[in-house]
Amino acid sequence: MSFKDQVDRERLPKHVAIIMDGNGRWAQERGQERIYGHQNGVVSVRECTEAAAEIGVEYLTLYAFSTENWNRPKEEVDALMELLVETIVKETPTLNKNNVRLMAIGDLDRLPQGAKEKLSKCIDDTAKNTRLNLVLALSYSSRWEITNALKLIAQDVSDGKLNAADLTDETVSNYLTTKGIPDPDLMIRTSGEMRISNFLLWQLAYSEFYFTETHWPDFRKESFYEALVEFQKRERRFGK
Ligand code: IPE
Ligand code: IPE
Ligand code: MG
Repeated sequence: MSFKDQVDRERLPKHVAIIMDGNGRWAQERGQERIYGHQNGVVSVRECTEAAAEIGVEYLTLYAFSTENWNRPKEEVDALMELLVETIVKETPTLNKNNVRLMAIGDLDRLPQGAKEKLSKCIDDTAKNTRLNLVLALSYSSRWEITNALKLIAQDVSDGKLNAADLTDETVSNYLTTKGIPDPDLMIRTSGEMRISNFLLWQLAYSEFYFTETHWPDFRKESFYEALVEFQKRERRFGK
């Protein structure tokens, strides 16, 4: 029986977040440049988006580029930005056909102008879609996001719009770039590393974690469904 058939459709995670890791190692194992791994990683993005939409997951967040990734060699950063623009433009019709809405979280002002424009256009063009929300974390890091939220909160307190004593964790959530997005139920990291790498520190408070040795370019639909099956074996207690 396929993993897809083993997934219980009544108990799906509403939100799955993925740290897509291992593109560079995947390419190196094949004697290729790192960018070859990123190019093949795009196929996995497409597969997982389709898999999530087909089964009925409502939110899929993909960690595509971290704040720290700006420190990689310029050629790799440039190639990644180019790949991002190319992919977004090429995939917009498919997103619309499949009723998928694109969203983005992160310090988007740091993206090159061209990438920012193409991204905004795709976000606008898919804004009415309702089947799956595909959230790209770009130039994203959780510490950046939390620091940014603190600045906004401090400003609103000093402007008298917010009373410091009334702050709740819900208020904090509303100042994050993930405002309105439910916390992930399941977080997947590919390629064997057992760390968070500055991803959604606040939002992952009670998420289930799933790690696999599979490199991102080899992570396909059935790999996604396998993670869902594993998730459904977990007992979530939320401290109770
Ligand atoms: C993940 O793959 C993609 C990005 C971080 C952009 P890596 O590029 O981190 O590949 P490895 O981890 O070096 O193999
Ligand atoms: C995390 O992967 C960031 C993304 C997948 C975009 P990295 O490869 O950058 O993280 P580290 O360096 O292994 O922690
Ligand atoms: Mg990596």
